[in-house]
Amino acid sequence: MIDPFGRRISYLRVSVTDRCDLRCTYCMAEDMTFLPKREVLTLEELDRLCGAFIGLGVEKIRLTGGEPLVRRNVIELVRSLGARIGTAGGLKELTITTNGTQLTKLADDLYAAGVRRINVSMDTLDPAVFKSVTRWGDLGKTMDGIFAAKAAGLAVKINAVALKGVNEGEYDRMLTWCGEHGLDLTLIETMPLGAISGDRADQYLPLSMVRSRLREHWTLEETDYRTGGPARYFTVKETGRRIGFITPMTHNFCETCNRVRLTCTGTLYMCLGQEDAADLRAPLRDPAVGEDGLRAAIEAAMLRKPKGHDFIIDRRQPAPALARHMSVTGG
Ligand code: 5AD
Ligand code: SF4
Repeated sequence: MIDPFGRRISYLRVSVTDRCDLRCTYCMAEDMTFLPKREVLTLEELDRLCGAFIGLGVEKIRLTGGEPLVRRNVIELVRSLGARIGTAGGLKELTITTNGTQLTKLADDLYAAGVRRINVSMDTLDPAVFKSVTRWGDLGKTMDGIFAAKAAGLAVKINAVALKGVNEGEYDRMLTWCGEHGLDLTLIETMPLGAISGDRADQYLPLSMVRSRLREHWTLEETDYRTGGPARYFTVKETGRRIGFITPMTHNFCETCNRVRLTCTGTLYMCLGQEDAADLRAPLRDPAVGEDGLRAAIEAAMLRKPKGHDFIIDRRQPAPALARHMSVTGG
């Protein structure tokens, strides 16, 4: 699948649920209204839709949410997608972004299903800060999940959203901790998605600044390492692990975008930063449409992939750039 700007689309992110067992302040409001169950695709429907994308050239799928591992029986979807890894014209990689709370239960099953790498969101190493960022999370539970994933054989990358005045003073400590436990770390700039209770301008911390501060204590060596995403990675000489920076605000990486995002209701967003979307649930559920029609709907959507996002966080304009929360499209 090639979009109008010549980019090859080979990466599908699938939000399997918009629900989550946490309420990170930058991600959600405390009293979120979630989608009614009847609007949500079944796991079989999600599998069929993913199969159509794979048939059209998607090589990498990431399951996200909300929190993907709180969806009931999600492991069945992981297994059926995992079975497509390595087959001719099939999937090359299946990954998951999770908050880690279910990993003590599910890490072994994920590995057995063919998952080899996961991202775990953990913004801080301080239990009190963790509680306040996630509104009701327990840092110990997330850490136990990370250790369970490592023990199961999964490579774990920690995702931390850089939050001014919240975890701002912790990146040195987090780099040390990740080094000790054999984990990579990625820092992410906050993006203006969805209404939250605070003011995003207060939370926004440009990573260009973070990086130069880190360089006072660490040797960051530039690398070509890529995971198929927008992060730029450096090797931390002192620990031998990597640190990545995702900078949607300070640096626009849309030129090399290779991905589209599917929500759990079968809506396809061609760009995280634009409203335009294609409904795939209708063709999926219409018995008159069939596989070819479904493929045609996906190909038509690809032709609408926009050039890029235009996120700004503006103090004079307190409304989010987009009304939709990150939990809809899973980042
Ligand atoms: N800006 C940046 N990152 C976000 N995440 C959730 N909401 C936002 C936001 N508004 C992060 C989560 C997770 C990843 C999927 O996206 O912390 O690591
Ligand atoms: Fe849940 Fe992730 Fe959003 Fe936090 S950032 S509320 S863990 S979906």
